[in-house]
Amino acid sequence: MRKKIGFAAILWLCLLLPVVCSPVPTTTSSTSLTRCPRNCTCEDIAGGAVVDCKGQNLTALPTGLPLNTTYLNVAYNSLTKLKLTHLYNLTKLEGLSVSNNDISVIKGSLKYFSNLNQVDMSTNMIQTVKETVFGNLLQKLRLAEMSDNPLNCDCHLKWLREAVNNTELLGNNVYCANPPHLSGKRFLDVPSADFKCNYYDDLFI
Ligand SMILES: *[C@@H]1O[C@H](CO)[C@@H](O)[C@H](O)[C@H]1NC(C)=O
Ligand SMILES: *[C@@H]1O[C@H](CO)[C@@H](O)[C@H](O)[C@H]1NC(C)=O
Ligand SMILES: *[C@@H]1O[C@H](CO)[C@@H](O)[C@H](O)[C@H]1NC(C)=O
Ligand SMILES: *[C@@H]1O[C@H](CO)[C@@H](O)[C@H](O)[C@H]1NC(C)=O
Ligand SMILES: *[C@@H]1O[C@H](CO)[C@@H](O)[C@H](O)[C@H]1NC(C)=O
Repeated sequence: MRKKIGFAAILWLCLLLPVVCSPVPTTTSSTSLTRCPRNCTCEDIAGGAVVDCKGQNLTALPTGLPLNTTYLNVAYNSLTKLKLTHLYNLTKLEGLSVSNNDISVIKGSLKYFSNLNQVDMSTNMIQTVKETVFGNLLQKLRLAEMSDNPLNCDCHLKWLREAVNNTELLGNNVYCANPPHLSGKRFLDVPSADFKCNYYDDLFI
């Protein structure tokens, strides 16, 4: 009787969880100690993990990143949103590259990454960046690369122009795409006073 119940129980288990009864272990064969997201490579370098996910057709930031990630490269993918909130657990992050994606929306703030010293957002579809994205971190960064984005140099980006005077921080190819009368102008060549939202007033005086 006991044996019969046991057998039935195992049979049920097999139906519900085929993994339990499959003849070959189905666990991943990875021998890596560091957990690493699919389609990324992770390298243990003194101090943390360097995670490279570039050119993998990703449409979202990878999940399962090592908590000790110090550098994360997701360049050359297809991200349309940069959800920084997704990375808040990575308290050791020092460098982040999201260049060459299709990012137009940035959610969350970089200010939570107290060890961050470089971020590359070049060659995306970024039109504007809220001041809260950088918080008070901007002046601490060695690089906040913004080249090759269709920036809208209106009042919403005035804060950035007031915070930055040299190309070293933002990169060499930072241009305004809008408003129309500033299109093609170098971001740093436009005086902060010209970053307006009521520019039509000026045009029709
Ligand atoms: C990063 O964390 C993983 C565990 O998730 C560990 O195996 C690895 O040794 C750590 N790397 C460094 C450089 O501390
Ligand atoms: C990305 O997509 C392109 C086009 O569909 C394909 O040719 C390429 O192999 C993909 N790359 C990867 C790493 O999956
Ligand atoms: C990740 O890699 C697997 C196989 O290597 C592939 O089938 C999958 O499409 C990749 N995922 C993305 C988002 O490119
Ligand atoms: C962050 O870490 C906490 C605690 O370890 C975990 O519950 C949460 O799911 C993590 N969030 C992300 C986005 O990885
Ligand atoms: C940039 O230069 C202007 C004019 O020289 C100055 O008023 C402003 O304080 C400078 N901003 C920074 C962040 O250095």
